[in-house]
Amino acid sequence: GKYRVVSTKPMPGTRWINLLIEQDCRVEICTQKKTILSVEDILALIGDKCDGVIGQLTEDWGETLFSALSRAGGKAFSNMAVGYNNVDVNAANKYGVAVGNTPGVLTETTAELAASLSVAAARRIVEADEFMRAGLYDGWLPHLFVGNLLKGQTVGVIGAGRIGSAYARMMVEGFKMNLIYYDIYQATRLEKFVTAYGQFLKANGEQPVTWKRASSMDEVLREADLISLHPVLDKTTYHLINKESLATMKKEAILVNCSRGPVIDEVALVEHLRENPMFRVGLDVFEDEPYMKPGLAEMKNAIVVPHIASASKWTREGMATLAALNVLGKIKGYPIWSDPNRVEPFLNEKALPPA
Ligand code: GLV
Ligand code: GLV
Repeated sequence: GKYRVVSTKPMPGTRWINLLIEQDCRVEICTQKKTILSVEDILALIGDKCDGVIGQLTEDWGETLFSALSRAGGKAFSNMAVGYNNVDVNAANKYGVAVGNTPGVLTETTAELAASLSVAAARRIVEADEFMRAGLYDGWLPHLFVGNLLKGQTVGVIGAGRIGSAYARMMVEGFKMNLIYYDIYQATRLEKFVTAYGQFLKANGEQPVTWKRASSMDEVLREADLISLHPVLDKTTYHLINKESLATMKKEAILVNCSRGPVIDEVALVEHLRENPMFRVGLDVFEDEPYMKPGLAEMKNAIVVPHIASASKWTREGMATLAALNVLGKIKGYPIWSDPNRVEPFLNEKALPPA
């Protein structure tokens, strides 16, 4: 192969490798046992000649790595993730390295995990499972693991982009929940869907579902029974959920986060969980991954899973393929397949709505 492409991790499937090999690339996959590679580890992988890198969200892609990649002749970097808060896009631009991410292929998979956590929290599935396995079940009781009925309640979505909208549809259609959402962009297709579904239910003699676009995030926090967070992590969304916003939520609300950990002030969340035993959370992401803030692991009203929202076979193979196409496209002189510079910043009041 004429071009040297490095992947910092083995990735699922073979399609991504074949695509690169067929197009004159030599693919080198890092086989280090440790889960999180340091900047030094990656510098060693880049070496003296490297045309492109496929990296992971656990890695810190800043000035040091992009300048090294540029010196090695590299033109392209792709995160194998839709989120790219681990990538300093300005530094990449400065060194002439194009950046790609992997949106689209993980939309439904991620929304399905958010929906799963929502139901698991509402129906206390994990607590009940632990109870069974501990041999504590000694017969049916009227009060045993009573949770929340989602039907007819209100689901609140913060950030109604691709994933947030897919999640909203699942909860509205699957559980007949009413929708309230907050985003600087109007989610027109989502609104149309809920309207049409509401009309369908009404025509069948059922209670119709409704939607509302909130004028502030607080409105969602105040009114929703179940809230799922789907913003991009940036300066404007860091600790979006903090002590004050938690206090705004209903005492028996459910909060789900499959976006990025730092969107929630996790210390404040642990405190809130401790003081409000009926408040429940489903978390896929954490502020200091792979760690949890002290106390979180002991909270019965929290469900915690290790950042697996995009973890379906189809999606992970798709993410690897998209990442390979990103790098390949740039090496071959095309625009990068998926350029995160095109992702509009969430909650950036100055961002103009798309034409
Ligand atoms: C996973 O967290 C992703 O951003 O793709
Ligand atoms: C519960 O198992 C019921 O039959 O109501």
